[in-house]
This record gives sequence, C-alpha cells and structure tokens, in this order.
Amino acid sequence: MNRVAVVTGGASGVGLAIGRHLARQGHRIAVLDRDGTTAERAAGDLRDGGAEAQAFAVDVADRAAVESTFAAVRTGLGPVHVLVTSAAVSGFTPLDAITWEEWDRYLAVNLSGTFACIRAALPDMVEAGWGRIVTISSAAGQTGVARQTHYSATKGGVIALTKAVAKEYAGRGITANSLPPFAVETPMLAHARDSGDLPAPEVLQRMIPAGRVGTPDDLAATCAFLCSEEAGYLTGQVIGVNGGAVT
Ligand SMILES: NC(=O)c1ccc[n+]([C@@H]2O[C@H](COP(=O)([O-])OP(=O)(O)OC[C@H]3O[C@@H](n4cnc5c(N)ncnc54)[C@H](O)[C@@H]3O)[C@@H](O)[C@H]2O)c1
Repeated sequence: MNRVAVVTGGASGVGLAIGRHLARQGHRIAVLDRDGTTAERAAGDLRDGGAEAQAFAVDVADRAAVESTFAAVRTGLGPVHVLVTSAAVSGFTPLDAITWEEWDRYLAVNLSGTFACIRAALPDMVEAGWGRIVTISSAAGQTGVARQTHYSATKGGVIALTKAVAKEYAGRGITANSLPPFAVETPMLAHARDSGDLPAPEVLQRMIPAGRVGTPDDLAATCAFLCSEEAGYLTGQVIGVNGGAVT
C-alpha cells in the first residue's frame, strides 16, 4: 500500500518511530515538526532507507500555517490518506502557578493543533472514501495527572475529539483512533526525568505491570496496524499500549 502519511511531531520520539514503521509499509511520509532541522534529518534518514519522504517545518498551533503545509504536502507527495498526530507540549506546573499564557499554549498545540491537522487532512480522505487517523493522546487524558491539569485537559480533549471524528466519518471509509501512552522512552520523558518531575525509575517501573517503560516502537507497531487496510472496522477506540499501566 502506498499512500501519503502525515506524521506531526515526526522528528522525535514516538512520531519518529511511527514514520519509520509507516515507511516500511510502503507509505510516502510527510514529517511535520516545529523543529525543521530535526524534521529534515528524520526525512533524510527515511529516504536513506529507500522511502519517499519530505520534511515540513510547521507549528501546529498556527492554523494558517497548517493549511498551507497540507497544501504543500499535497503538491509534493500527493493527497493525504493517513494522519498521525504526535506533536505536543508537556510539562509539570502546579495548578495555581499555571499562567494563562501557558494554558493557552497547551490548548493551542495539543488540542487545537490536532483539530487543525484533522480538518486539513479530511477533504482528501473523504474524496478517496478511505482514511486513517491516529491521535497520540496520553494516559494523563484518561486518569488525570497532578501538576498536569493543563496537559491532562488537552489530552482528554484529544480523546473525545477522536471519538467524535470516528462517529462523524465512520460511514465514509475513515477511521479515527487514539493511542494514549503512559511512559515511553523519548526526549519528552527524559526531559521530565531530568527536571525531577517523574518518580525514580524503579518507582515508575513498579507502576507498569509489564515491568518496563515503553519504547517508541511499541507504540509505532500498533499505530501501523491502525493505519492498515485490515483495520477498517476498528474505529473510535482508545488503545492503551502501556504495559498494563492503565486498563
Ligand atoms: N513519552 C511519553 O512518556 C509520553 C507519555 C504520554 C503521552 N505522550 C505523547 O506522545 C506524543 C509524542 O511525544 P514524545 O514522547 O515522542 O515527545 P518528543 O518531545 O520526543 O516529540 C514531540 C515532537 O513534537 C514536536 N512538536 C512540539 N510542539 C510542536 C508544535 N507546536 N508543532 C509541531 N511540532 C511540535 C517536537 O518538536 C518533537 O519533535 C505526544 O503527543 C505526547 O504528549 C508521550
């Protein structure tokens, strides 16, 4: 299967691994990321591996830029039939110390950014009568996490948004599902660990029945299946690839 797959946050961590898995399935990959340099590197690595890939520097919070970027993807690679939204900001701040600027930025990137990308991708999917949308949410959106009220709220919103999209477009060959990671070894997790915001590694591991933190490939393998032809009847679901941490 050779379709165009847009992966936001595709330059790092979970998004980077998802780009690799989708490329292995034969898709053409558009790596969208705020960080243009690492996005170029990611797309270059995919091309070195034999895939067709292009990097696009974009802040998903910028609605106009999202629209023009999807237009550029269409011109450069073709219509978009697979969308994975992994771009997000994360951090830990006590509720009473969250500034309105911080609150607005979290909503703009994590929730509105996801909505903007879904809206930009849908016309191509409707036209084709086929589409796959996977949002990377968070266990924080399922359970809530202290000192992450802003992040948890946006990720809960992403889960509800995904379910609503699934219901609205199920009759048009388009699926939408969400993967809510718990703890995955990525630069985002490393930053939280270095900032002292995570429990000690042995405590974190004890919170995960499987006994280990996840890898980006753990998430990417399930994401690749959700984007496959065979997964056409699987929609509106929240699938915790989390070692049993949240069930
Ligand atoms: N790593 C974990 O333990 C964990 C846990 C729960 C949820 N998640 C979620 O998984 C997803 C991937 O996170 P990760 O751990 O791979 O993080 P990461 O920091 O390694 O990657 C995130 C990528 O998103 C990009 N990005 C950030 N803001 C952006 C913006 N405004 N526009 C475009 N790109 C932007 C970054 O440049 C980066 O390349 C995120 O949605 C995150 O909330 C991760």
